[in-house]
Amino acid sequence: MRKVSVLVIFSLGFVFACQSPATKNHRTGLIADHGVVVSAHPEASRIGKMILEEGGNAVDAAVATGFALAVCYPDAGNIGGGGFMVIRFREGHTAALDYREKAPLRAYEEMFQDAAGHVIPGLSLDSDLAVGVPGSVAGLLKALDKYGLLSLQQVIQPAIDLAEKGFPVTLKQAKRLNQYKEAFLRANRFVPAFVKDVPWKEGDTLVQTDLANALKMIRDHGRDGFYKGPVAKAFLDQIKQDNGWITQQDLDVYRAIWREPLMAVYKNYKVISMPPPSSGGVALIQLLNMVEPWPIGKWGWNTPESVHVMVAAEKRVYADRARFLGDPDFVDIPVTKLIDKDYCRERMRGFSLKRVIPSDSISHGKPIGYESRETTHYSVVDGEGNAVAVTTTLNRSYGNKVVVKDAGFLLNNEMDDFSAKPGTPNSYGLIGGRANAIEPAKRMLSSMTPTILEKDGQLFMVVGSPGGSTIITSVFQTVLNVTEHHMTMQEAVNAGRFHHQWKPDMIFYEKSALDRLTKDRLKQMGYALKLRSSIGRVDAVRVWPDGKREGGADPRGDDTATGF
Ligand code: DON
Repeated sequence: MRKVSVLVIFSLGFVFACQSPATKNHRTGLIADHGVVVSAHPEASRIGKMILEEGGNAVDAAVATGFALAVCYPDAGNIGGGGFMVIRFREGHTAALDYREKAPLRAYEEMFQDAAGHVIPGLSLDSDLAVGVPGSVAGLLKALDKYGLLSLQQVIQPAIDLAEKGFPVTLKQAKRLNQYKEAFLRANRFVPAFVKDVPWKEGDTLVQTDLANALKMIRDHGRDGFYKGPVAKAFLDQIKQDNGWITQQDLDVYRAIWREPLMAVYKNYKVISMPPPSSGGVALIQLLNMVEPWPIGKWGWNTPESVHVMVAAEKRVYADRARFLGDPDFVDIPVTKLIDKDYCRERMRGFSLKRVIPSDSISHGKPIGYESRETTHYSVVDGEGNAVAVTTTLNRSYGNKVVVKDAGFLLNNEMDDFSAKPGTPNSYGLIGGRANAIEPAKRMLSSMTPTILEKDGQLFMVVGSPGGSTIITSVFQTVLNVTEHHMTMQEAVNAGRFHHQWKPDMIFYEKSALDRLTKDRLKQMGYALKLRSSIGRVDAVRVWPDGKREGGADPRGDDTATGF
């Protein structure tokens, strides 16, 4: 095993050369010579690093981290949900894997509306109808099968051990489990492992025997261990008990799909991101294209001018998202046009530094040729320089809170990501139309934005975030923090964030995102501002010119970078 040489370096020569307007001290995250794993939980990051040290590549480590997160970060890590994986191999070859959940075959457009056509509150979030057909197991196994060097047994066993022997919960986790106790009890007819008589405290051990057994079935039978046999039966019994519509046929026909990654050039960088059914890649590239002509670096980090141009782009991009984006297997999406630089520049026509255009006066564009809290992201780079960006989700925290009896895993409530009715906002306030209407076996539109950046043909950054609709803007800002504001990876992740999504016409911001002068100026210009708790949780890796990798773990959570 190679010598572990992880250094937390607070001041490196190259860092001094960089200027950061955001933080007082010039601080980097974890610096490693070889592999780095940054994820939402210290146990998952530890397992990912262990797999790299045992000779696994970035895909092996990503799959191991994914299964580990299903155990130690049940808020969002999952086997009952779905996700997206973007890969860039050392020599430049790329891949994108879609293992997003699907609507059941019985689903139909108005399924969340009452007879009068009103959306029934909560039905797409808190019932068994909220559950999309899970994709995570199909996806992780497909990635491992194609690109992994290690066996399924090797990459899943650490997660099984973690579930069987238990792990110490963090302080934040203990608080969240206590906060959700009533919700777990309401959602389940038995007492799941997440509920204790006395409140959880930091360091208490969380053991998940049923989940360990489900993971063993996957270890021993691969895909069939989840989509058939006792785990599938436990899942379907659960669904049937609460009148959900998923059947064995839905599980049988579920497939993860390799898709062409989206590619674009932003200044000296090549952006590699997730195509639909995520809106993330399209939206991120549109945002970068729209702000590219403006001197954001010169204006400075989160100055009134920078925020104004970024928000103007965000309004236009989220308007396009609502109109055009959905599952590409069902709707015709003009992706090439939407991310075209000329189209994006044209969308910004009318933008003025002096004037705010209200969202109501902004609609979607007309691309020529067109007819008609809780997700989690992790970033992995291995010693060879292969990189994997994964964002995965149950949708809201702990999904719909239902734990499958005897199989120990949580059900997603991803159906809420569909547009239940045109113009009616979902739980993230996002509106959509026909492109994202519910149809049998269709994938619901996502905002997840696992992304990789290249510079001069070399790996430069691996990045992504949870945060529902704020995922896209969190990734956008992190990219600009590094490329325009010359921050280290850690500084870029730490820096305060803001968000605008067209509707509502409001800039949401973290306290540390905007100083008083900027806020005053934006208000004078006519913007409505609203303070929010944390926005996004970015876990990212940056490769420095000397080849060292810097992990940036988001301090907003228990996120941890490991490496060697
Ligand atoms: O796919 C999506 O866009 C959402 N289901 C993501 C949910 C999410 O990020 C929740 N995190 N806080």
